[in-house]
Amino acid sequence: MELLPKGTLETIRNAQKIIFLTGAGISNESGIPTFRGEGGLWKNFRAEDLATPEAFQNNPELVWEWYDWRRGICKNAEPNLGHITIAKWQKKSKGIFLITQNVDGLHPRSGSEPIIELHGNIFRARCTNCSTKFHLEQDGLNHDGLKYCQNCESLLRPDIVWFGEEYDQSLLTKSWELCQLSQVVFVIGTSANVSVPAQLALTAIRSGAIGIEINPETTSLSPSMKHHFQGKSGEILPKIWKEVFEEESIG
Ligand code: APR
Repeated sequence: MELLPKGTLETIRNAQKIIFLTGAGISNESGIPTFRGEGGLWKNFRAEDLATPEAFQNNPELVWEWYDWRRGICKNAEPNLGHITIAKWQKKSKGIFLITQNVDGLHPRSGSEPIIELHGNIFRARCTNCSTKFHLEQDGLNHDGLKYCQNCESLLRPDIVWFGEEYDQSLLTKSWELCQLSQVVFVIGTSANVSVPAQLALTAIRSGAIGIEINPETTSLSPSMKHHFQGKSGEILPKIWKEVFEEESIG
């Protein structure tokens, strides 16, 4: 059975700009637990209890322990057909932009480019004093526990945008611009609980883009979408690819 009607397929094929906006759900099939789903708790802490500047100030050991654990999961995970389809789409067509909330590094590992990692990357750390950034693997800082700056010896923190923190202004400006100029926005694997990414999707739609959501559940964004596919992104995205390009499905 066809997933997308002819009109939508034409819009996708003729689009100058297409946005893929992704959240934790796209990495679920790679074995990375989502934040608010099953397996999202660690030692009974919620992400909201640990991913804050206050939590880090009170107990940096605990916050690093959580990130070291998550980094280990991300390192051992492999991109799935959801990540791979987006990366392949970006290679095939011009004007395909990826904005992700994920910090797990699976999109870059699948070859996606360009990519805006709105919430940072779990493999990077930054100095709490001089702001120098480090790559934990490449800079020999991939040990567990507290990590210190190789320039000024101050404490490093994960290079992640935590709850209550400002986004990187240049990434945000670029994201707003892209969303305003897009004709299609795919919203994949996000609960839309965090307001900036949800607002980005709505901005695209209010600017005239059609919204296509892929998520086993409905979200607060679902009513604004032209299409909602209730399923897994690793299964639905390759089927959409096949319909758009009239080619054999990926995988
Ligand atoms: N395919 C598509 N969607 C899926 C899949 C799948 N295989 N599995 C789960 N989902 C959906 C869930 O139904 C849920 O709506 O992915 C969504 C994951 O939601 P969250 O765990 O809230 O993740 P996300 O929206 O990315 O969270 C946003 O919150 O904790 C912070 O900074 C963190 O970036 C994160 C942000």
